[in-house]
Amino acid sequence: MNPYTNTANKISREYLDQYLHHQFLDVGVDQRAMGYPVTPFADEARADVASVFSKLLLINVGDPFDESGHWKTHTKFFERDVIKFFGELFQIADHWGYIASGSTEGNLQGMYVGRNYLRTLSAPATTTSGRPRPMFLFSKASHYSIKKNADILSLDEDMVELNVNDKDEMDLAQFEAIVNAIPLDRPIMVNLNIGTTMKGAVDDFDTIFTLIDKSGHKDNTYFHADMALYGLILRFFHPDQSKFQNLIDRIGSFTISGHKMLTVQMPCAIFMGKCHYVDKALCGTRVSYIGSMDRTISGSRNGMLPILLLAKVARGMDALKKDIQLCLDNCDYLCERMESIGIECHRSYNPGIIVYFSELADYISDKHQLACHDGMSHIVCMPHVNRSLIDEFIDDILAHRASGEEEKK
Ligand SMILES: Cc1ncc(COP(=O)(O)O)c(C=O)c1O
Repeated sequence: MNPYTNTANKISREYLDQYLHHQFLDVGVDQRAMGYPVTPFADEARADVASVFSKLLLINVGDPFDESGHWKTHTKFFERDVIKFFGELFQIADHWGYIASGSTEGNLQGMYVGRNYLRTLSAPATTTSGRPRPMFLFSKASHYSIKKNADILSLDEDMVELNVNDKDEMDLAQFEAIVNAIPLDRPIMVNLNIGTTMKGAVDDFDTIFTLIDKSGHKDNTYFHADMALYGLILRFFHPDQSKFQNLIDRIGSFTISGHKMLTVQMPCAIFMGKCHYVDKALCGTRVSYIGSMDRTISGSRNGMLPILLLAKVARGMDALKKDIQLCLDNCDYLCERMESIGIECHRSYNPGIIVYFSELADYISDKHQLACHDGMSHIVCMPHVNRSLIDEFIDDILAHRASGEEEKK
């Protein structure tokens, strides 16, 4: 038990220091954390960058591309550098974006841009306010932020949560039937999953584009892609890069988490949009209080994040690609080892780093911090999930089996 439990129920600086020291330095973080798309510890290089700035309150407020503003202790220039880096990596000439608190916010910003952009189209009014109401389509395997964001943006009355197949990919027959039934003057917004949370599924975006084009909705459909986890993997390893580029060319926005594949040690996300949509959707308000344009969901943003992200991408494309290649190789190794001991496991999308299988005994799930949902478990092969952690996981299953206890839940 943690000896620093606050039994006195009194907050004190001493209590805080003792707890922090005990919990995170003496005990240390448990590296056996294979169930979530994050790495629980920072490497020295990343920590150093953070320590230089740990004495400053760095706040980015207002549109990062608006250089004016009253508050001077900011890193909006670094924030622009990060957006420019991703603009080049994904070949988006008219990019706009910012560093969000995470992909929930990145998805919200994308859906906000999409909803407002579609409202600018000259479709017959379908609301009492006189603005066209988009139909919002997303799949049941979408991250829970998508439905919550639809609620926040009042899209929930006009949305369809589509079925998925065994792999968690959007049901295309249902998608086709629904888009064909939507009147042509009704705008559509679609969320595309590029790596679902549980199974790492990638919606068949190519066919989805074809179905939209065939339905006659090409010019009044907005696509946002949730690429929180698999955006970088596909950028480097999609087997048909021109197909992948077509995805980027057709969507209005996407989000990529910074604390997932990029292993930044604070939750964050890169929101990427295109000026073509953003400029129409968010004309922006000049806020006199901050002296800057406001186009982001959050007000004050964490100015440390662009520094941590820049430190990561400053290592160069090759280093990034190498990190991901190692995760993919380790994922192959994990599948081989699981199959070698007779455990059926699946990857919805390959190249991908999520392997899912029937839920194992509580002891195994707990020790290796596996995420469980609907009788399934998964392992996300993040950079820290190396071969010795994988071997330990397999050994634990074998030992559990040898003890005669039930292996599956
Ligand atoms: C596919 C997907 N989208 C969005 C998110 C939300 O990210 P965050 O928790 O950073 O807001 C997650 C988180 O795991 C995710 O897996």
